Amino acid sequence: MNRCEDGAIFTIFGGTGNLSYYKLMPAFYQLHQEGRLIKRMAIVAIGRREKTTKDYIEEVEVAIKQKSKTYTKESFDDFKDHIYYYEMDFADDEHYPAFEKYMSELDTAIEACGNRVFYLATLPNFFPTISKQLKTYGLLETRGYRRAVFEKPFGYDYTSAKKINEGISEVFGESNIYRIDHYLGKEMIQNIHMIRLSNQIFKGVWNKHSIDNVQITVKEDMGVGDRGGYYDQSGALRDMIQNHLIQILALVAMEPPADLDTESIRQEKVKVLKHIAINKEEVIFGQYRGYTEEEKVPSDSLTETFVGLKAHVNTERFQGVPFYLRTGKYLDTREAEVIVEFKNDSVYKNLEASMESNLLVIKIQPEEGIYFRINTKQPRSENRLMPVSMDYCQSCNIVYKSPEAYERLLLDITLGDRTLFTSWEEIEHAWRIVDKLMAGIENKRDYIFTYEPKTDGPSEVHELLEKEGHVWWCLSALTATYFQDLEVEDEH
Ligand SMILES: NC(=O)c1ccc[n+]([C@@H]2O[C@H](COP(=O)([O-])OP(=O)(O)OC[C@H]3O[C@@H](n4cnc5c(N)ncnc54)[C@H](OP(=O)(O)O)[C@@H]3O)[C@@H](O)[C@H]2O)c1
Repeated sequence: MNRCEDGAIFTIFGGTGNLSYYKLMPAFYQLHQEGRLIKRMAIVAIGRREKTTKDYIEEVEVAIKQKSKTYTKESFDDFKDHIYYYEMDFADDEHYPAFEKYMSELDTAIEACGNRVFYLATLPNFFPTISKQLKTYGLLETRGYRRAVFEKPFGYDYTSAKKINEGISEVFGESNIYRIDHYLGKEMIQNIHMIRLSNQIFKGVWNKHSIDNVQITVKEDMGVGDRGGYYDQSGALRDMIQNHLIQILALVAMEPPADLDTESIRQEKVKVLKHIAINKEEVIFGQYRGYTEEEKVPSDSLTETFVGLKAHVNTERFQGVPFYLRTGKYLDTREAEVIVEFKNDSVYKNLEASMESNLLVIKIQPEEGIYFRINTKQPRSENRLMPVSMDYCQSCNIVYKSPEAYERLLLDITLGDRTLFTSWEEIEHAWRIVDKLMAGIENKRDYIFTYEPKTDGPSEVHELLEKEGHVWWCLSALTATYFQDLEVEDEH
């Protein structure tokens, strides 16, 4: 290996934030334990708070102890040599000359060969400002790679996202930009592709002729907690649908890419995004009871904490197949899954104990795995059917223990692989979908329904499907054993 491939400075703007302590540092630590962190990697955390590197390391150790199941004192002592704390106000340009000097000296000390990653875990309005200052003060004039990573949310609407994108693109250029949608780092999200494209049994039926509807659910079981101020500015549509759920939809609906490289995959996703339409009459907004009493939430807030909707994918492959999306806070469970319901059509469909539709469930979290429901002959009957399932739990299997999303993403950043990061075009089209929908809603008060905490959202979201002859599938009910309810008829 070339010595320069083994050195880099990874700077985190927002290094004393929740994301850094509880996601990024534990992910770096895990990579270190697995021997996958590059050897001469300095992780420089930036914050305004006065503290030493030693103080910061102690705080990181507390967070890692909480998050990591594999923490050991010995390996943390080894890992901590990678960590540095640097105090600055990144909004103040006077702080950049000293920062440039610090980075040059550190680069020489660890032999980073000028390889730099700038991870902006800050509010999006800081993205262009920080990028510009990095350029102005010479932090990008190095002989190595200069990559920039931008956390979500990428803007608040199309106009703000475009402005942010222009600001960062003129500094870094698209090929050095990594826009995070951490859902794409999740193991089972990547698996959507693999399952679809590597199994002959699905390849031929992945279309409007065989698929009846697709359901994408991401439920959270907690309220907004102390993040009400941030959340109230965005709401479920912008915080979850615009990025995570629309990205999942694109992976389910896209054409198989010509190649598995970054550009081919991105192009196919963009083609789907261009063909998504959502009608305002087919959207249900909800707000959990008590939301307006949460800390930093205005008492008259109309921000939605729940969205359920029907999306139309107007492509040759999926024209006419409803894609139902729902997500919300303070719901009955914390779970995420994609359910593909196949058409229910066969010579057996009119039998007394009629056949059930085939279901393919891709379980994203908390359990990761695949569930598949098929029909079989009921034992000891003449021609009755019963549904049975094949249920694979990947996360139950210690051998296949999945990595956390951020582990994969941080590794890809250091390797320069942008496949699991979103392109500007994807973001642009996702915002256009959301903006168009919001523009058609004159008074949100007419669309928002109250739901009780710890339920599965407003009842109106069930009516949305019922009027089309569909139901929201409930994974826990599906996985409850069928045999418990089965009355086996002794016909002989
Ligand atoms: N938390 C998550 O799990 C999560 C998940 C996905 C996306 N995100 C996104 O990631 C970003 C960070 O989230 P977070 O939860 O870590 O936020 P947070 O806990 O509020 O932390 C904010 C960070 O920004 C720093 N900061 C703010 N203004 C600064 C300035 N002028 N100069 C220097 N440092 C400054 C703060 O440092 P000091 O206070 O020390 O100055 C702190 O480190 C947000 O945009 C959020 O939407 C977070």
